[in-house]
Amino acid sequence: MRLNKCHNVDDFRRFARRRLPSPVFHYIDGGADDEATLRRNTSAYEGCDLVPNVLAGVEEIDMSTTVLGQKIDMPLFLSPTALQRLFHWQGERAVGRAAEKFGTYFGISSLATVGIEEIGETISSPKMFQLYIHKDKGLNRAMVEACKAAQFDALTLTVDTIVGGNRERCLNTGFTSPPRITPRSFLSYAAKPAWGLNYLLREKFELPNLSGHIGEGSNVALSIGDYFTTMLDQSLDWDTAEQICAEWGGEFCLKGIMSVEDAKRAADIGATAIMISNHGGRQLDGSRAPFDQLAEIVDAVGDRLDVICDGGIRRGSHILKALSIGAKACSGGRLYLYALAAAGQAGVERALGNLRAEIERDMKLMGVTSVDQLSRDNLRWR
Ligand code: FNR
Repeated sequence: MRLNKCHNVDDFRRFARRRLPSPVFHYIDGGADDEATLRRNTSAYEGCDLVPNVLAGVEEIDMSTTVLGQKIDMPLFLSPTALQRLFHWQGERAVGRAAEKFGTYFGISSLATVGIEEIGETISSPKMFQLYIHKDKGLNRAMVEACKAAQFDALTLTVDTIVGGNRERCLNTGFTSPPRITPRSFLSYAAKPAWGLNYLLREKFELPNLSGHIGEGSNVALSIGDYFTTMLDQSLDWDTAEQICAEWGGEFCLKGIMSVEDAKRAADIGATAIMISNHGGRQLDGSRAPFDQLAEIVDAVGDRLDVICDGGIRRGSHILKALSIGAKACSGGRLYLYALAAAGQAGVERALGNLRAEIERDMKLMGVTSVDQLSRDNLRWR
């Protein structure tokens, strides 16, 4: 399979499947329980149709948008995701450089495999840090302080992961961080020797934002579900979120908001953005799709904070639909992770290039030259 044959997210998914040991592939690809929410996140976009206007003079397209205090060159950014050096040895470095080239935000996870400081020093485009609140309060404080020192542009608190989701594919493959090769999983790792050589011979795997405080995830192998359930602070509540927002003092996003009530509370505590998200269908299966919740949340709080529609996006037309409803921007994980696994930085760049080309083509076909010309008048529900 060749990179120049990857025309869409599904092509990259197939490529990634060939490159990765199956436990790693299924960690990226899978969702919780029956994966109904995972599927719905994308199929929700089929519930409405775009209605184009023509003869609009569309040679020049401006697809930039302003979100979380930064003007970005395209209305899509890269959601924070964990463990990226397991998917490709370049990990977050590749994703950050690709985001930089395309002038868009990217996020690193608390469970990133490259540290906050290095990302701050090397990536000049807008950066967000995704915070998981751990039981270890010193760790939480250290991560926020490191983000301040590294001049991250936004802090994103994930609120949908108070316990680990039931990811049965990971239970079946025995996937852990760091990977543990068991008699059962040996063959799936042995089948991908190129991946194995990179894993063994390149920089040692660790989670540098955590490893100075806790061994789990870096030295002590744990499933990601068990990590969340045992390491994160289940007493996390609105008071704590408000405190973190105030201590941070800059652009602050809550990731994993799904209800109008919570969206209003997010605005009340001073959040400047919310990501409507169900963690890519990896947490509460049966949860509604972000796109299905978008209109009521935009109507309730769209004038008080930036509303970002996260998850399920596989096409430029999905982004145009979300922007038509009133999202400031969209974000996604797998849409760049498959590409990272397939071909590192070159893969992520091609994935972003494909999506940017789709957005531009679709804006022209819709008869709009800037994203603020998209509105609900352009949509009809089935
Ligand atoms: C994630 N996601 C995620 N979210 C987060 O807040 N912290 C994290 O560490 C991770 N890690 C992570 C790993 C992998 C492999 C995936 C696929 C996802 C969720 C991510 O930020 C985003 O919400 C979803 O990926 C959106 O769904 P799509 O775009 O993958 O469909």
